[in-house]
Amino acid sequence: MAVLIAVNVGMPKDVSWQGRTTRTGIWKDPVAGPVMARRLNLDGDGQGDLAGHGGEQRAVLVYQLSSYRHWQEHLKRDDFTYGQFGENLTVDGLSDDEVCIGDRYGIGGAVFEVTQPRVTCYRVGLRLGEPQMAALLVTHRRPGFYMRVLTEGRVRAGDEIVKIASGPEEMTVAEIDALLYLPGHARPQLERALRITALSPGWKTSLRALLDDADRGSGAAGGNRGLTTSSPPPAWPGFRRLEVSRIEPESAGIFSLTLAAVDGEPLPAALPGQFLTVRLRPDPQASPVIRNYSLSGRPGAETYRISVKQEPNGVASTYLRQHVKVGDVLDVAAPRGTFLLADADTPVLLLSAGVGATPVLAMLHALAAEHSQRAVWWLHAARDGENHPFADEVRALLAQLPAGRSFVSYSRPSGADRPGVDYTVSGRFSPERIRGLGPPPDANAYICGPNAFMRDMTGALQACGLPSSRIHTEVFGATSAVTPGVLTGPARAPHQPAAPPAGRPGPSVAFARTGLIVPWHPDYGTLLGLAEACDVPVRWSCRTGICHTCETALLSGHVEYAPQPLEPPATGSALICCSTPPADVVLDM
Ligand SMILES: Cc1cc2nc3c(=O)[nH]c(=O)nc-3n(C[C@H](O)[C@H](O)[C@H](O)COP(=O)(O)OP(=O)(O)OC[C@H]3O[C@@H](n4cnc5c(N)ncnc54)[C@H](O)[C@@H]3O)c2cc1C
Ligand code: FES
Repeated sequence: MAVLIAVNVGMPKDVSWQGRTTRTGIWKDPVAGPVMARRLNLDGDGQGDLAGHGGEQRAVLVYQLSSYRHWQEHLKRDDFTYGQFGENLTVDGLSDDEVCIGDRYGIGGAVFEVTQPRVTCYRVGLRLGEPQMAALLVTHRRPGFYMRVLTEGRVRAGDEIVKIASGPEEMTVAEIDALLYLPGHARPQLERALRITALSPGWKTSLRALLDDADRGSGAAGGNRGLTTSSPPPAWPGFRRLEVSRIEPESAGIFSLTLAAVDGEPLPAALPGQFLTVRLRPDPQASPVIRNYSLSGRPGAETYRISVKQEPNGVASTYLRQHVKVGDVLDVAAPRGTFLLADADTPVLLLSAGVGATPVLAMLHALAAEHSQRAVWWLHAARDGENHPFADEVRALLAQLPAGRSFVSYSRPSGADRPGVDYTVSGRFSPERIRGLGPPPDANAYICGPNAFMRDMTGALQACGLPSSRIHTEVFGATSAVTPGVLTGPARAPHQPAAPPAGRPGPSVAFARTGLIVPWHPDYGTLLGLAEACDVPVRWSCRTGICHTCETALLSGHVEYAPQPLEPPATGSALICCSTPPADVVLDM
């Protein structure tokens, strides 16, 4: 008979960690008397980061006495106290290789159902003072598990745990944890897991993504689609020399450069929505300048076309505009990116403002080339006719689509601009206007433009019934940070490290989106550590090679891992939380 050994609760508190403050509810202490287990929590308990923890599916975390003993031995420690693994219920029995998802247990006056394994984030390592703990829990197959509360009631230490029902597929916690995090992802196991009604929606989404990946046969590109969306593998490693074969104006501030292979060979086809990375040397004495540019031409054409907006005092755009000529050769990294036109038969909304038209124009080219029968809406915001790029090209492409529609707004049309011909409406593309157009709610939407434009359009489309999963955005700059629980002060612009470690500088690390090139030093620990020292926006959760939140496209170079990630990232990407650069690297961040 399994027994409840301790009931542990704790409210979130601010903890200082690596020079920062993080809000976490992982500090739990045993309580003596009975505690009410409610739908969302035990009374007196709370979580610091509700995106990753807590909620109905993760109301109560369970950890086993047998695992305490295992870690005491493995870590050579004898200082553990109940609640130290962040669990609410410390139990004798119910091991991860016996308990199945969907099992139901009666404890005291409450009834629980097992929903998913523990979420493997850095906080368990922080609580135990063992930074690699999140990875160890997975590799040693001792994650612990969450339960939802089916019947609210009191529980107390000493209660017997009575099994009321067995999960339908008899899939254990250890098995399903390995299915997501460890290489393999066997198809029959994924199908089995997805039949379990009690499995939490979050885990179902991840496992379904792995199954879709198996269906598409894209597993050869590596990575873990259940954990992150990676760029398809690059067509060539590092930088390749491409010749500028054409330069043409597109509008008052935007010009296009066509790039061809130096040997005249056609270039590998890019996917609609992908971008190129260009390395320039405006000042041969100084570090190179690395910038991304979305491909704006027809995917599959013999050449690549990028279209660049001349930024006032912009280093790369000014150099490309004023110094680069037809016949010049540029260093270019292969097309990459995850902002890709989905292969579906649903309507497509292509929304852009200004130079944000480039990736969605490539999508329009792709749809026109296949004479798509899909409803295709082109929505573009420009200042006026002078600043309206690709107008004729878009008109010609839409004419090839039986269900193509166009809405162009000019915020400040000039006297020469013809309403109903050059543009549809004057003024901004407000959310109200989008709602008024009544976009089809089953559409896939692709949005690119200034951040405020993307935010407004996303909100408007959600209000029209489009689910977030079908609204895709492309940011022409650094992506937003993911730092669970960390309390951030005012955003700082990325900078060179304030106190660079002494000694000979190591290989250079270029953060392409941020425009920084920084010498490596082992004192930074990992590439993530270096990015943090420079206030480059970073994304992470486990910090030890399990969750793939930190997966970043590696535009050039390669990395070495310590510790080895549980599953390698996609080809052409790196997990920056557990890697270092043996030679120069360029990261897409
Ligand atoms: C995935 C992706 C796709 C992209 N696609 C395109 C595309 O298709 N077309 C395109 O034109 N761009 C695109 N970009 C943006 C592009 O990579 C460059 O960021 C852009 O061209 C500006 O680079 P720059 O060197 O000319 O300007 P930067 O020198 O980087 O400067 C940018 C702006 O900031 C200002 N600035 C710089 N330093 C300071 C300072 N210290 N204080 C105040 N202001 C400052 C400059 O005056 C300028 O206006 C894309 C970016 C990404 C990430
Ligand atoms: S942060 Fe989890 S793998 Fe890097």
